[in-house]
Amino acid sequence: MRAVDLIMDKRAGKELSREAIAFLINGYTAGELPEYQIAAWAMAVFFQGMTPRETADLTEIMLASGARIDLSGLQGPFVDKHSTGGVGDKTSLILAPMAASLGIKDPMMSGRALGHTGGTLDKLDSIPGYRTNLTVQEFRSILAETGYAMTGQTKDIVPADRLLYALRDVTGTVESIPLITASILSKKVAEGADALVLDVKYGSGAFMKDPEEAEKLAKSLVDTGTAMGKRIVALLTDMQEPLGHKMGNFLEIEESFDCLEGKGPADLMEVTLALGAWMAVLGGKAQDTATGRRLCEEALAGGGPRRLFLENLRAQGGDAEQFLALRGTYRSDFTRTLKAEAGGFIAHIDAWNIGHAGVTLGVGRNRIQDPVSPVAGIEFHKKRGDPVSKGDPVMTVWAKDEASLSAALPQIRASVSYSDVPPAKRNLILKEFF
Ligand code: URA
Repeated sequence: MRAVDLIMDKRAGKELSREAIAFLINGYTAGELPEYQIAAWAMAVFFQGMTPRETADLTEIMLASGARIDLSGLQGPFVDKHSTGGVGDKTSLILAPMAASLGIKDPMMSGRALGHTGGTLDKLDSIPGYRTNLTVQEFRSILAETGYAMTGQTKDIVPADRLLYALRDVTGTVESIPLITASILSKKVAEGADALVLDVKYGSGAFMKDPEEAEKLAKSLVDTGTAMGKRIVALLTDMQEPLGHKMGNFLEIEESFDCLEGKGPADLMEVTLALGAWMAVLGGKAQDTATGRRLCEEALAGGGPRRLFLENLRAQGGDAEQFLALRGTYRSDFTRTLKAEAGGFIAHIDAWNIGHAGVTLGVGRNRIQDPVSPVAGIEFHKKRGDPVSKGDPVMTVWAKDEASLSAALPQIRASVSYSDVPPAKRNLILKEFF
């Protein structure tokens, strides 16, 4: 087989055999096929799509590129959550300790920033000392000890996704239903969870811009995951505006901790509790989502999730006292506060603009080898619907350096629009698939 023939077949819209997909993915993972050929194939998939059979084969081949985490001998239930990607989307960081405090173990394998969206691993790496490259043994023991463990793809576990994910990030090949499906499910099957809650996002800040496309992604994820033996619930949620008041790596860790202390912003808590309610149901702790939500709220009020967050932070190499001291102060020196250009109400803060500006600020990458900044990002002092007077502070922005700050500011300014009347309230949870 020759990679170039397979690229041309896919470019022409042909269905590739399982052997052909394995040749590409295994060849790439083994270092025998160059990045440029896989990037070209991914672009062909982006335009031509894949059949459900190809998507299932790709998922299984990516999964088989490494070992699976064996959770036998540990006390379950094991339930995880994954998002298809958003801006300010930090619910995983709140949900894992929340589920753990309900007695549900969350073995979480996440990704880095992807395109204009943030990545759980980059956020966690902003905590000094915190390790996201756990061995299987470390993953198991931290999961047993603190109720959840957070790791990334490694050279041993789904190495194919580790490579392909980083390549897609910088080659404009992220927004593809089969590539997203295989990326998410190869990790989720490898980590060993029995059940999964998926947050499928739609809107300008998501990879799927409208609910119809997001629904197709949800269906692809549910069908492929169910065929691989997972119990899956998918929620379609709004990503037109950044979630919460903070966007950036350490900023989002900080805001997640605020939520665990009962100080979470309303939009972020609404989505988090909707997902948490389903985790409680799938974990057998609640009969229905109303009960699940109540259990999550009670857990937060009792302080268990906050305690487990700090326990997990220590277990994964961080220093809890240092983390607590850094809150509110760990910021870049390159900063600017943007003031309201008009009075009235904030009509909209566009998530796509904010996400792309975030990459320029240093929250994400332009090239595979680029480091991300722990201390770049944006704090939103006002959100959609808030009343403002001209000159009020609307956002504070931090960048990795002065040049990036200057480059990002026009896009950040362009992300905000104003109105004389309050904008209509938007439903954050559109639909549930189960
Ligand atoms: N999350 C993933 O793990 N992979 C994707 O492709 C998108 C979101």
